[in-house]
Amino acid sequence: MNKNDYAIRLEEKNDYRAVENLVREAFWNIYKPGCSEHYVMHVLRDDPAFISELDFVMEQDGRLIGQNMFMKTIIEADDGRVIDVLTMGPIGITPDLKRQGYGKALLDYSLEKAAKKGFGAVLFEGNIDFYGKSGFTYAREFGIRYHDLPEDADSSFFLCKELIPGYLDDVTGVYQTPQGYYVKDEDVEEFDKGFPAKEKLKLPGQIFG
Ligand SMILES: CC(C)(COP(=O)(O)OP(=O)(O)OC[C@H]1O[C@@H](n2cnc3c(N)ncnc32)[C@H](O)[C@@H]1OP(=O)(O)O)[C@@H](O)C(=O)NCCC(=O)NCCS
Repeated sequence: MNKNDYAIRLEEKNDYRAVENLVREAFWNIYKPGCSEHYVMHVLRDDPAFISELDFVMEQDGRLIGQNMFMKTIIEADDGRVIDVLTMGPIGITPDLKRQGYGKALLDYSLEKAAKKGFGAVLFEGNIDFYGKSGFTYAREFGIRYHDLPEDADSSFFLCKELIPGYLDDVTGVYQTPQGYYVKDEDVEEFDKGFPAKEKLKLPGQIFG
């Protein structure tokens, strides 16, 4: 990868199907047999919390190779305030180009755009090994808790980055995942029938059965 061999732009309506297929390819058999992220993004684009000005695709030689999107959500602060924040994802890179720096380039570009739009912080579930390189740390270090997670449970999957330094300084509270991310297995199954057949495999390392 070099800095000039890709372009990042906003997703357009006529990209939707191709981007869903890209996401399906990127996530297939990674976290569970098959995946649901292509359907999740299909649903999220119609959600009022969806931010179309932060819905990016990455291209190389006219081919879609990556995507990333953001949604508005909130922290219910312990002092009663409602703090507006962002959540992010799905983010995906086409399988043959993973681990070559494209994901980080896309992530950093999108975070910079989100910061320029004045958003204060981004929180989501992810792997610190990847996101840590772009300035994310554990959300618990900011005093933010993940909804419905028992206090003694491992929360190292729950990450946060301030886009405005100090945005969460006087905030502790509970982060809420936007409802749009929760989809029904049967709806995913039905939606997936519209894509080329792919084999679902049970593989080591998948975190969901
Ligand atoms: C996660 C994803 C977007 C990362 O994009 P990428 O282009 O593969 O990652 P990059 O090459 O930019 O990674 C930069 C660094 O992050 C770390 N990293 C990237 N992916 C990682 C992973 N799956 N596990 C651990 N560390 C990872 C590595 O340290 C990597 O540097 P290295 O390859 O020199 O070791 C991409 O691999 C992908 O689409 N994965 C499947 C879908 C997915 O899991 N999305 C994220 C859901 S939270």
